[in-house]
Amino acid sequence: MPSATPAAAPDEDRSPDAVLVVDFGAQYAQLIARRVREARVYSEIVPHTMPVSEMLARNPKAIILSGGPSSVYAEDAPHVGPELFEAGVPVFGICYGFQAMAKALGGHVARTGTREYGGTDLTVTRPGSTLFEGTPAEQSVWMSHGDSVAEAPEGFTVSASTPGTPVAAFESDEKKLYGVQHHPEVMHSTHGQLILEHFLYRGAGLAPNWTMSSVVEDSVAAIREQIGSRRAICGLSGGVDSAVAAALVQKAVGSQLTCVYVDHGLMRKGESEQVEKDFVAATGVKLKVVDAEERFLDALAGVADPEQKRKIIGREFIRVFEQAASEIVAEAGEHGESVDFLVQGTLYPDVVESGGGTGTANIKSHHNVGGLPEDLQFRLVEPLRRLFKDEVRMVGQELGLPEEIVQRQPFPGPGLGIRIVGAVTRERLDLLREADAIARQELTAAGLDRDIWQCPVVLLADVRSVGVQGDGRTYGHPVVLRPVSSEDAMTADWSRLPYDVLARISTRITNEVDEVNRVTLDITSKPPGTIEWE
Ligand code: XMP
Repeated sequence: MPSATPAAAPDEDRSPDAVLVVDFGAQYAQLIARRVREARVYSEIVPHTMPVSEMLARNPKAIILSGGPSSVYAEDAPHVGPELFEAGVPVFGICYGFQAMAKALGGHVARTGTREYGGTDLTVTRPGSTLFEGTPAEQSVWMSHGDSVAEAPEGFTVSASTPGTPVAAFESDEKKLYGVQHHPEVMHSTHGQLILEHFLYRGAGLAPNWTMSSVVEDSVAAIREQIGSRRAICGLSGGVDSAVAAALVQKAVGSQLTCVYVDHGLMRKGESEQVEKDFVAATGVKLKVVDAEERFLDALAGVADPEQKRKIIGREFIRVFEQAASEIVAEAGEHGESVDFLVQGTLYPDVVESGGGTGTANIKSHHNVGGLPEDLQFRLVEPLRRLFKDEVRMVGQELGLPEEIVQRQPFPGPGLGIRIVGAVTRERLDLLREADAIARQELTAAGLDRDIWQCPVVLLADVRSVGVQGDGRTYGHPVVLRPVSSEDAMTADWSRLPYDVLARISTRITNEVDEVNRVTLDITSKPPGTIEWE
């Protein structure tokens, strides 16, 4: 039987010694956190509602205040208390964070009426300063603000200006406090990464020592401590996240781990074979395959609501795991111990988007974060909970996993179940599987796999439209191609695929897939769209 260990939220696994990125509510905090990590310094996002005492209790190496949509004058503007700047922790204020910092420290923020938005020329007025050393006197930066700092707080040196903003940066080496009006984290700020690194290395005195080998080493140690001599199971989905999570746990506890591949009937064509072939061959991990197609399709019958589908799929996953765990114990005979742990490939963006990192609204219940049943019988092991996707790939490489696994495009855990708009049936899944396989074949043949982040193919099962094929009228379904480019799935743009590739995909799908008589292209970025349709 599965253990009676009570359901547990993943252990609060924040590392001390992080650079904390305080999220003031725009999209920027995640990007800043990524850029800090690119500088090989570990960072975490915290909500601005977190009391300063709690931030300081984490012993942060530095604090970065992000941009945000508010004006410091707005009644409900997030407050930043002066105590944040008195603890001796180096602080870097960006955009809203810069203005909030100026205000808290007695500077003057004015509603100048001049808005600066987009690429702006910045003049460095103190060329050798901590932030700007080695960058050109004139450089292009990305601005997005209405109010401006009119006067720097006492004890600070103004180190840059723009035509609309005389105080575009200020610095105090003595207090280790720095700020810029622009967004150094966006690529359009030509020397942004260097300015950020100058804050980290020169301003805060940090060393770039957060590397993938240190991540692997720390994770393996943490997993060993968490699991001890007990048993764990891990669901493999065919995606890179679960593969890397499983490989990490296998490195930590070896044969105490059994991987379970649930064939829920929502996988793409050929995917089940790939999991067995690629992953088992690469790692030699113990694998148990469960055929659960009927169970999932029965549970999903007639359900069109996407959140409900996700909840059902999440619930059934866990139930199948519980059953697999009982079987693993039974197979082990009288020496079998209970399986106490469930390994999941939850990523940092899942945690953040589910409200775990920033206190922002729950956008979707990712099945591996928000949708777990309350009576979960396993404790969770989530070794990727702090990592962005590209970091997971680097960990995979560090662990020696083959390229086909490490570079695999993301595929959602709930599978094709959330790529059918409408209720899920076996016939609809078969249609979608065929259409998806054609799109994937053509994209691979055109050498585009590495250029796109992923390309969901979506079946609009509740929509029909009239077409003509051969001599006859058809009344079929449309499919949507959703090719996107992205850095981390938090934001995305639609990929400008060559027309001839799109044409081939369209012709082949409409010719080869019965019931599909239109192929459409989604040209929406994220935001406002999401990547999956659901
Ligand atoms: P959205 O649709 O939210 O997707 O823009 C962002 C990224 O997450 C993937 N995705 C999921 N991955 N379980 C997963 O493991 C899920 O429930 C899930 N939902 C979305 C999606 O494919 C995209 O890469």
